[in-house]
Amino acid sequence: MKIRVFRLWFLACLLTGVVVCSATAAKVEATKDARQSSYQLMTAENQAMQNDPNLNPALFWVIDGHSLWKQKVGKKEASCASCHGESGSSMKGVAAQYPKVIKGKLQTLEGQINRCRSDKQEIATLAYESKDLLALTTFVASQSKGMPIAIEESLQNKQDLLQGKAYFNERMGQLNLSCAQCHQDRAGLKLGGSLIPQGHPTAYPIYRIEWQGVGSLQRRLRNCMSGVRAKQFDYGSIEMAQLELYLMWRARGMTLETPGVRP
Ligand code: HEC
Ligand code: HEC
Repeated sequence: MKIRVFRLWFLACLLTGVVVCSATAAKVEATKDARQSSYQLMTAENQAMQNDPNLNPALFWVIDGHSLWKQKVGKKEASCASCHGESGSSMKGVAAQYPKVIKGKLQTLEGQINRCRSDKQEIATLAYESKDLLALTTFVASQSKGMPIAIEESLQNKQDLLQGKAYFNERMGQLNLSCAQCHQDRAGLKLGGSLIPQGHPTAYPIYRIEWQGVGSLQRRLRNCMSGVRAKQFDYGSIEMAQLELYLMWRARGMTLETPGVRP
């Protein structure tokens, strides 16, 4: 049965020409996975800014991050590179798996970097959104550029994932809107001047033109929460990590673009 359908389709393709054929193939692809990175919604100019290493301002953070990576610090004179290698290529694929449950606690990538600072380097942790933590995170995450987001549901993360999903669907703030009501039900529609994206965290940390700097996913989420006049989750809180986890799971299989650019 399947073979016959395929043959018919193939025959139709031969008769009608390649154009129709490839259009059909693209359509099949689109219905298979309708998820879309907000990269797709950007102007050609902003897309070029992300793609071109000479234009992407986030690359300054990557370069800063690489310097910090190699810097020997603390009484132990240990750098990230001392344990993980000079180039950072040992971090390939790591960002695609975060947030991750480590020793029973859900950690974001930023949280894990801080764990290494306190436990391995024996120095102070870095504040969320500080220049150094953003630089290190952008450097580590950029090692996974082009790789698929690899969050799977597991026995360890199941509770956190469910909690994150609950937050995503919970109405909040004076506007009484949930994340889902915008990013699922109204994705593709206009809100004021901007198009509502599907809200996939495929490019973080991002250089946001509005911020004139690099920011974390949590900064972006706090923006959306204040947009609906809701009480924002704290930086580095478990609630934030759970929401991040759900968003990354929802985007599983999509390509990581870090360092990304957004308007
Ligand atoms: C003394 C050695 C040491 C130093 C220094 C160190 N790390 Fe680590 N790091 C480890 C070990 C060991 C692990 C494995 C997990 C664990 O034990 O926590 C790890 C895990 C990680 C992970 C998670 C990898 C994964 O697959 O989940 C990241 C990200 C990371 N380190 C980043 C850094 C950064 C950034 C620095 C510098 C700020 C740093 N580390 C400094 C030893 C070190
Ligand atoms: C009122 C509608 C609305 C609500 C509610 C809302 N957002 Fe957003 N969100 C937006 C808009 C609009 C943008 C894009 C803004 C821009 O480009 O300036 C956005 C951007 C994002 C992005 C960035 C995507 C990217 O590619 O960088 C993520 C992630 C996101 N939202 C997640 C959430 C989460 C999680 C919640 C719930 C806590 C939420 N949003 C609530 C409208 C909303």
